Amino acid sequence: MDRIRIRGGRPLHGKIAISGAKNAALPLMAASLLTEETLILRNLPHLADIATMTHLLAQHGTEFSMAGEHPDGGHMGHVLKLRTGEITSTEAPYDIVRKMRASVLVLGPLLARRGQARVSLPGGCAIGTRPVDMHICGLETLGAEIDLDDGYIVARAPEGLQGGVVVFSQVSVGATENLLMAATLAKGDVVLENAAREPEVGDLANCLNRMGARIEGIGSDTLRIQGVDRLSGADYTVLPDRIEAATYAMAAAITGGVVELLGARPELMEAVAAALSRANVTMQPTACGVLVGAAGAGHKDSSPGDGLVGIDVTTAPYPGFPTDLQAQLMALMATATGAATITETIFENRFQHVPELMRMGADITVKGATAMVRGRGQSAGSGGGGLHGAPVMATDLRASVSLVLAGLAAEGETVINRVYHLDRGYERLEEKLSGCGADIVRLVD
Ligand code: EPZ
Repeated sequence: MDRIRIRGGRPLHGKIAISGAKNAALPLMAASLLTEETLILRNLPHLADIATMTHLLAQHGTEFSMAGEHPDGGHMGHVLKLRTGEITSTEAPYDIVRKMRASVLVLGPLLARRGQARVSLPGGCAIGTRPVDMHICGLETLGAEIDLDDGYIVARAPEGLQGGVVVFSQVSVGATENLLMAATLAKGDVVLENAAREPEVGDLANCLNRMGARIEGIGSDTLRIQGVDRLSGADYTVLPDRIEAATYAMAAAITGGVVELLGARPELMEAVAAALSRANVTMQPTACGVLVGAAGAGHKDSSPGDGLVGIDVTTAPYPGFPTDLQAQLMALMATATGAATITETIFENRFQHVPELMRMGADITVKGATAMVRGRGQSAGSGGGGLHGAPVMATDLRASVSLVLAGLAAEGETVINRVYHLDRGYERLEEKLSGCGADIVRLVD
């Protein structure tokens, strides 16, 4: 299994091109099942999860072609053409779904277009039990009959889905996306209340409207969909990955460097920018993206953790502080001066990076859903923001990148095991970081 080795203590300087958003690309790919025409997706990131979704769609009958990168400053990623002239299978098998929970996003489109679907239950994952009850309840509200059978969701709507009002008891990105796609072909009007407002949901809705859907209220917590008889193909560009961009913003800050994030959209990262500015990290819009640096960064003798101060943050659905940045922020706070508290409200088991960061010298105490981080910055004089290199273990996508950040700041050498987690969500991470001066390599066993 591949590992990543980092020698820390080098401020990052340079430019990083931000890839298309994984969490927008996955539902957009599933949406291709809603039409027999061709959906062209541009700026697609090259990630393990994208390959898994392509594999899943292929077994539903989707034909596809992938064109390589368009080297115009790195903004435009891969171009994928998907066409499902006919849905040849309505089953999403366990062997694929167990690899990637987002596979459940084929449920709505299969049911809407073919009136039936048999989708493996995704099961729990490292960060939480993650049930799909709201997906199921929502589809039942639109008239589907749903049973659970041998670990599969078995859904039927032989007469098609009907109009209705779905009120989500909790904000769910996936349930909103599944219901949004299903509602586009429903017979009647659908209202989704307490819907997720994440930009990735908006990206999906915009693409569906370009395919001929009638969706209103995009970006708000109430989506209104007038069902139509059929959808057409479209040509759509996936929005840039705000989580990847903010991750590299924290990489710049934790190393005391200055980095420009090409293609990053500041308006998608307001909560992050607000939190980071309280920690003394500036994020300024530029003509090509966003320029990031810690206070005092770029000063010839600045070092990791310099100028960073501890802050208190609670994760929340968009436009709140994203849970997908909680682990990265914790690594940053471990090098800051003063204490920080980080409260996780979305997933019940998303502190698995804590013991690994503590192996690197971080001082963290967890009580329930809150982690208290006592920054080691005040001993920054000792370099590394007070962290030191160590062999550590990746447990999930965002936890693994928080270890990369800590390794970039730490004194000495860090070796991260099980980096396959990283490949699910970060395209060409070593290349992007070493392009800004990081000493980072992949050790291929
Ligand atoms: C999406 O997951 C993202 N994944 C996650 O990113 C992200 O952490 C999450 O949204 C929250 O922002 C993709 O977009 C592919 P949810 P999703 O449904 O849709 C509970 C990453 O690192 N819930 O919004 O699965 C659930 O257990 C990944 O890129 C129910 O109880 O998340 C959780 O506590 C990790 N019943 C909360 O809601 C349901 O039916 C939010 O989950 C559905 C969800």
